[in-house]
Amino acid sequence: ALPEKVKIVEVGPRDGLQNEKTIVPTETKIHLIDMLSASGLPVIEATSFVSPKWVPQMADQVEVMKGIQRKPGVSYPVLTPNLKGFQAALTAGASEVAIFGAASELFSKKNINCSVDESLQRFEEVMKAAKEASVPVRGYVSCVLGCPYEGKVAPEKVVHVAKRLYSMGCYEISLGDTIGVGTPGSMSEMLQAVSREVPVGALAVHCHDTYGQALANILVALQMGISVVDSSVAGLGGCPYAQGASGNVATEDVVYMLHGLGIQTGVDLSKLMDAGAFICRTLNRKTSSKVAQATCKL
Ligand code: HMG
Ligand code: MG
Repeated sequence: ALPEKVKIVEVGPRDGLQNEKTIVPTETKIHLIDMLSASGLPVIEATSFVSPKWVPQMADQVEVMKGIQRKPGVSYPVLTPNLKGFQAALTAGASEVAIFGAASELFSKKNINCSVDESLQRFEEVMKAAKEASVPVRGYVSCVLGCPYEGKVAPEKVVHVAKRLYSMGCYEISLGDTIGVGTPGSMSEMLQAVSREVPVGALAVHCHDTYGQALANILVALQMGISVVDSSVAGLGGCPYAQGASGNVATEDVVYMLHGLGIQTGVDLSKLMDAGAFICRTLNRKTSSKVAQATCKL
């Protein structure tokens, strides 16, 4: 059975803007986040506390955190790869963070410059500090259906990392199809394996839409009882360390599908489309959302 409600985790301001070639002005980011919260989204990933040498697009993380208007009831998690990032996030007033590991060794090395095992050790340190500060931690696993450097990734590798992140205390595990190569077939096989070790209620899916499979993959996840979906307004996004990865599935398209299925999201689609139009106009780019492109409006 499908869930009655789905929590959408909007990752556009982070996953989307981290991949823009030009540096997006801080005010634009702040305005986007405020428009997204006004649309009713419950979670907006705001920025990341990573090295500015690695991801210059996120170098204004402190100003972004200072500038946004925090809407009560909305959470604004930020990415923290290590203790240094966690401490900086805390100082900047973050009240929720996310650690991000990978199911593939080579991706881990390229993305966070350490092995999977080393990353799990770093995450334990972040987790310890987060528990002391009562900060909830979300865990990502990247490359759950394929890796740009290793090709196909076995479900057991995903299970290994997801289980570790969950047992160290992550309240939610977001399974990332970083390069959008999965299909409903591989998605369902991977989710079956992971849900044997991590409760389905603690799982989220994070689909990039490179091969146009994201909505189908999300539907499979919903049918398996997953009720948390990551997406990005206007389909912005990609990962600078995953060449060829296109944007996340567009939030507009996810909301349209969910509402069509009678599933509640709390999101006002027309306000969300305004946020998408704003960021596309400002970045002078075309939206990747099919719903936003549609000229026949229902
Ligand atoms: P490193 O170079 O190995 O770090 O980078 P290090 O510990 O050796 O330190 C080197 C320098 O970086 C030092 O500065 C540190 O202070 C500094 P220096 O002494 O040279 O001046 N440093 C930092 N500065 C700011 N913030 C920090 C930090 N840590 C160290 N947190 C590191 C290791 C993890 C920092 C680096 O590899 C990094 O920043 N990686 C982030 C890459 C990234 O953001 N990728 C995109 C997000 S993941 C993603 O998109 C996937 C996802 O969407 C899910 C999916 O789609 O699958 C989540
Ligand atoms: Mg991503």
